[in-house]
Amino acid sequence: MTDLTSRKDEALRLIQGASSLAELDEQRVAALGKKGWVSLELKSLGGMSPEERQEAAPAIQAVRGEIADAIAAKKDALEQAELEAQLASETVDLTLPAPESPRGSIHPVSQVMDELAEIFADLGFAVATGPEIEDDWHNFTALNMDESHPARAMHDTFYFPDTAAGAGAASGNEAADPKRMLLRTHTSPVQIRSMVEQGAPIRLIAPGRVYRSDSDATHTPMFHQVEGLVIDRDIHLGHLKWTLETFFKAFFEREDIVLRLRPSYFPFTEPSVEVDVGYSNEGGRRVVGGHGDDDGHDWMELGGSGMVNPRVLEFAGIDPKEWQGFAFGLGIDRIAMLKYGMNDLRAFFDGDPRWLKHYGFSPFDQPTLSAGVGVRP
Ligand code: DAH
Repeated sequence: MTDLTSRKDEALRLIQGASSLAELDEQRVAALGKKGWVSLELKSLGGMSPEERQEAAPAIQAVRGEIADAIAAKKDALEQAELEAQLASETVDLTLPAPESPRGSIHPVSQVMDELAEIFADLGFAVATGPEIEDDWHNFTALNMDESHPARAMHDTFYFPDTAAGAGAASGNEAADPKRMLLRTHTSPVQIRSMVEQGAPIRLIAPGRVYRSDSDATHTPMFHQVEGLVIDRDIHLGHLKWTLETFFKAFFEREDIVLRLRPSYFPFTEPSVEVDVGYSNEGGRRVVGGHGDDDGHDWMELGGSGMVNPRVLEFAGIDPKEWQGFAFGLGIDRIAMLKYGMNDLRAFFDGDPRWLKHYGFSPFDQPTLSAGVGVRP
């Protein structure tokens, strides 16, 4: 009996002294576990005569109860202490200013599209859009691109597989299926959609994504263009040149912009011109401005344009005897790189947050003509 009492006292002392829940559990296993000493004492009752058992059992049961109670009490105390320590270490001071949450930025392409819209709105141009998944008729046929035009080849244009059967037309053997679907290769089909939908007169720009099977340092399979279209009664190339010159002066925010219109060929314009802008080389960087033929200057191509081909007007249901106009197409990524000084087109579409933080714009930096369309954040 004394033995039982001293073992119990020792167990209670150890339970009391446990400094963690893990240590406490060790004590529980040592006493009350399957092979714990209290359990063994209880088992030994089985080997006793009924009289012995009657005498010994209540003492052992009492010890077991006392130890179990001590463990439960200690467990509560340890848990409470743990909670208090946690609360003490995690106090929240509601009077402190909140940490600033990370803010996204406006991609330079989006910013430049806003700048374009702002400048052209001032010249009376509306913004038009069209589908990026386009059909053959709007993307090629109505733009007077014949069946054997190289841009219609499978290796240049992304066709949709279920409609690619008609792509044999690219070889010139079969008529192109006007409903064959593809990813638009330029923004020019928006010209057709707008003419069909609203008729003449027209004054619009159509910025957006276009797709070609092309990939290297200066070409990505997806890139951005802006189309321009003006249809009215007495429009001529002079209007085109003035419009583009006025746009570039506002966009690059300098007066010494010189354009050169170079004869070219596009099926949808007649005559067609390529638009070059004079630039100088400053510290390895191309800076737009000045006359391309001057010392230290050169010309750089920015896009194509021309007078809308009368056949295109006819395709779109506009009478070419009554109406005429000009159209142009510019690369948005290209002019964004020139204005804001990036040199690798691929970085535009990598989605690297460091690049976006460096070249991106604040959402609050709305381009306006009065405040300057190109204010850096
Ligand atoms: N669509 C042409 C291209 O992607 C660019 C272009 C050239 C558009 C002349 C025009 C234009 O509107 O008149 O290469």
